[in-house]
This record gives sequence, structure tokens and C-alpha cells, in this order.
Amino acid sequence: METPLAECAKGGHFHVVTPLLESWALSQVAGTTVFLKCENVQPAGSFKIRGIGHFCQEAAKKGCRHLVCSSGGNAGIAAAYCARKLGIPATIVLPEGASQPVVRRLQGEGAEVQLVGKVWDEANLRAQELARRDGWVNVPPFDHPLIWEGHVSLVRELKAALGSPPGALVLAVGGGGLLAGGSAGLAGVGWQHVPIVAMETRGAHCFNAAMEAGRLVTLPNITSVAKCLGAKTVAARALACTQELQILSEVVEDSEAVAAVQRFLDDERMLVEPACGAALAAIYSGLLGRLQAAGRLSPTLASVVVIVCGGNNIDSRELQELKAQLGRS
Ligand SMILES: Cc1ncc(COP(=O)(O)O)c(C=O)c1O
Repeated sequence: METPLAECAKGGHFHVVTPLLESWALSQVAGTTVFLKCENVQPAGSFKIRGIGHFCQEAAKKGCRHLVCSSGGNAGIAAAYCARKLGIPATIVLPEGASQPVVRRLQGEGAEVQLVGKVWDEANLRAQELARRDGWVNVPPFDHPLIWEGHVSLVRELKAALGSPPGALVLAVGGGGLLAGGSAGLAGVGWQHVPIVAMETRGAHCFNAAMEAGRLVTLPNITSVAKCLGAKTVAARALACTQELQILSEVVEDSEAVAAVQRFLDDERMLVEPACGAALAAIYSGLLGRLQAAGRLSPTLASVVVIVCGGNNIDSRELQELKAQLGRS
């Protein structure tokens, strides 16, 4: 039997082609056809596996002997999953307060888990230090050309499934990897005229802050409950994309993102995390209609695609707690 690495060396990849579902419920709210690109059903639970899978495969081809990643969220889970498939050991470095379910999930993937520092930045320093060891490679969660290249596959799948371009693409922005890869993907399939609605939650809005300032801005703190969107500074490439495509940067409140998670659960029977709720809130909060009314999006959109980016960091109890915390119990 071939080793997993041999399979990958032949050009296979770790992500799956995800379903593109027409949502009756969201289409009713939006007043136009809404398609859901269901990245929540990826093997590691989010779109991250596209870029990180690509990065890890390239690292493996170059002889990497140990993968390191400093994310306790979807990037870390994707890195641990890819490492297991490649037969390469992985160390995932998390801040000390990391949740036990995440630690167990990572250990279940066979990764070594190190708890270092109070916040991600400290864990990241440790990951960078480890990656100086011979044969060790640090997996960047969002800021690397190979990550963006891997994410491009998502837009290729949209093109194959839809044929004609949607009226808009809605996605969530954390560090901007999905935005950079989505933009490259649109340009690559000749859909560079499709506007992107780039959604963030307040308190994790580093892209919006950068767009308003016209330069990179480092947020003093991450205060949003959408921790997976919690990069303090967006990737420079994400900001550069605004020169190449029409990108509308929009910010919703945590309460709107969490309300969207609850409505999506009721409408589609899928539980996703607040980071994904930020994208869904573009429809549920009426934002899309407001952008149309303000002339920032066409009043007649052919369709809208929402990237349902992931559903790892949530369960029914966490959703109840979030609603109680945000005053919507
Ligand atoms: C579920 C989910 N959605 C969106 C994002 C944002 O992705 P990016 O950091 O590439 O902007 C993340 C990042 O971790 C995520 O986990």
C-alpha cells in the first residue's frame, strides 16, 4: 500500500470539493438566489485546509520533517490533520487558556500540543523559535502566497458549479488569507468584476481599520467573540487586493454574528462558528439590501455566494453561552 506522502506526491490534495447549495431560506431574506459554499464540511472543518494543505504538501516535498503551527483554531486543526496524512509529526502551540476540546481534537490528530503565553502572539513567538530547528517548518495561518494559492481552488469550484458569475461573493476576513485567495481565484477564472463583501466583527476588524486608514493598522486588542477572526493586523496582500477588485469592507456586531449562527442553525440545520456568522450576517442583518439601496451593489444581483467558512469552534452549549453573554438568551 502507498504511504499518504506517496499519494500526495502524485498531486492529490487534502481538501474535498464542497457542495454549493441553493438556500431557500437565505434567498427569501436576500430577495435573490443565495448559494452556500459549504466549507464547514471540509475534513478539518473549515476552508483552511485548502491553503494549509497546499502549504504542507509543498513543505513535505522540500523535505520538511516536522510541522509547527501556532493557531488553536481552524488553521491549527488543518495543520495537524495534514501532518497526520503526510506522516509528518506536528507541534501546535496554543496560548495557555486554550479550550480543552481543541486540545483534545489536536491530540486526537496525533499532534503534540504546547501551551505557551497568554495570547496568540506569544504562542507564535514560540512556534517561530521551534521552526528554527533543522527540518522544522512553521505553517502560517493566513499570510503566505502558498496559502492563497491553495484557497484559489474554492473559486475554481464555484466556476465549475455555477458557470456564470454570481452578483457578489460574501466571505469573512480574519488575517485576510481567504480574501487574498478568493481575490486571486476570481481574477484567475475571469470573474474579477464580481464584488467581494468582506465581513468582520467589531473588535476583530483589522481589515476595515486598514481600509479606512489606507494603510495597515494594528488593533490594540481583539475583543470580538469571533476569535478565529482575531488577527490584530491584516495581511498586506489583503489590503493590496482592494486596488485590484471591488471589495466592500463591512463590520457587524458580535450579537449580529451570533444571531446569524442561530438563524442558520434553524434554517439549514448546520451549526457554524461566529466567524462564519459574520459572513451570514451580511444576509440576515439586511446589510446586503442596504448596500444595494445605497448603490454600492447592483439592485439586481444575479445571485450571491456566501462562503460558509467553518464550524469547528462551537457546540450547542457554547452557542447558548454566547447568546446569554450578548444578551440574546
Ligand atoms: C471559520 C473561519 N472563517 C474565516 C477565517 C478568516 O480567514 P483568514 O484568516 O484567512 O482571513 C478564519 C480564520 O481562522 C476561520 O477560522
